[in-house]
Parts: sequence; structure tokens; C-alpha cells
Amino acid sequence: MKISVSYLTSNDVVEDLRKLNVTNVDYIHVDVMDGKFVKGKTLAFKYLKNIHKYTTKRLDVHLMVKKPLKYINDYATLNTEYITVHVENKDVDKALNLIDSYGIKKGISIKPQTDVNDLVPYLDRVNLILIMSVEPGKGGQAFIEDTYERIKKVKKLLKEHKSKALISVDGGINEEVAKKLKDVDILVSGNYVISSDDFQYQIYKLRGN
Ligand code: DX5
Ligand code: ZN
Repeated sequence: MKISVSYLTSNDVVEDLRKLNVTNVDYIHVDVMDGKFVKGKTLAFKYLKNIHKYTTKRLDVHLMVKKPLKYINDYATLNTEYITVHVENKDVDKALNLIDSYGIKKGISIKPQTDVNDLVPYLDRVNLILIMSVEPGKGGQAFIEDTYERIKKVKKLLKEHKSKALISVDGGINEEVAKKLKDVDILVSGNYVISSDDFQYQIYKLRGN
């Protein structure tokens, strides 16, 4: 299982990215918010671009925006492994094609209230399904229990459609929740790691060893 750490609740992103460089975290989860798809808004790319110079880790970019096409070109220039767009967006097909044109892995994310069947048209072409376990928009929220059931449903869909997409879960993940998510490929965790004074120990506990 891989761990991706979100720095959304960090008060000093550069310092926290430096600290994460010396852990065995697999990815840095970059939450991008436009103030439209979600209430929160992240800094413009021209600032974020510089911040990411401080990380040696691959990026897992989560676009919580209304118009993903406007953001993909920018994030494709970084050390990016995945770019994930939301199934609730209008331009999903165009966005996946654009991500593909950069040779970057494609993810699709789904909010807690959206029908998992909405993922079906994309299952044969995405590399990652990012299941939201909180309402997107801010870090530090509680994990929605219903997510365990949704993961099962998504797994069933993947099987039925012979998709090899990985499953990632994002929001409210701590040691207790992680214990129940052993069969997930990538766990995204923010506050549980960032609010602690020993990032490596928290990451170690999330991995469950
Ligand atoms: C929520 C974000 C998540 C969040 C995860 O809008 O997409 O990535 O930052 O952080 P925690 O673990 O604090 O919920
Ligand atoms: Zn996220």
C-alpha cells in the first residue's frame, strides 16, 4: 500500500515538504481548489510552482475545480505521477485526453454523495479511482463511515468491467481508519501526518507496521 500526504492544512508548506523528503512517503498529494467547485481556494499556480521545487517526491494532483482543462497544462510541467479530475465535472473526457497527451497517469475522483455508477464510462481508461471519504473542500474533517461500503461497490464495478485501476481513498484517514482500509492501493492523509511532530512515525502507523 502506498501513502500520499496532503499538505492542505500545513502552516509552512516549504518546511513540511522538506520534512516529508526524509520520510518514505510515496507521493505528495496536491489539492487544487478554485473557490467554485468547492468553497476553498488554493494559491495560484505561479506560487505553487515554486513551492514544489522543495519536494523530491512525485506528485499526486487532485483537481477540485470546475474547469480542469484550465489546470492540467500547468500541473503537467511538475514532477507529476497522477492528475485526478472529478467525475462531477463536465469535461471529463477532454480532461482525460489532455492528461494522456502528457503521458501522465489519469485519475477520476468521486464525491461522497455521487452515485458510484457514474464512474462506469471511464473505468476502462483511468489508472486511479480517488474515492472521497469527506466532502471535498478542506482538510481535517472526519472520515465518512459509508465509504467502506462504497469502496466495495467500486471494487465490484472494477471487476465487472475488467478495469485494472487502482483505488485511492482521500479524507479523514488516521491510524484507526487505515487499519480498515488494508485492501486500498493508495491512502491519502493530510492532517493526521501534518499536525504531528513526527511525520515518519505517522506514515509508518498508516502503513500498519
Ligand atoms: C479534501 C482534500 C483531501 C484532504 C485530506 O478536500 O481533497 O486531500 O486534504 O486531508 P485530511 O486527511 O486532513 O482529511
Ligand atoms: Zn485531495
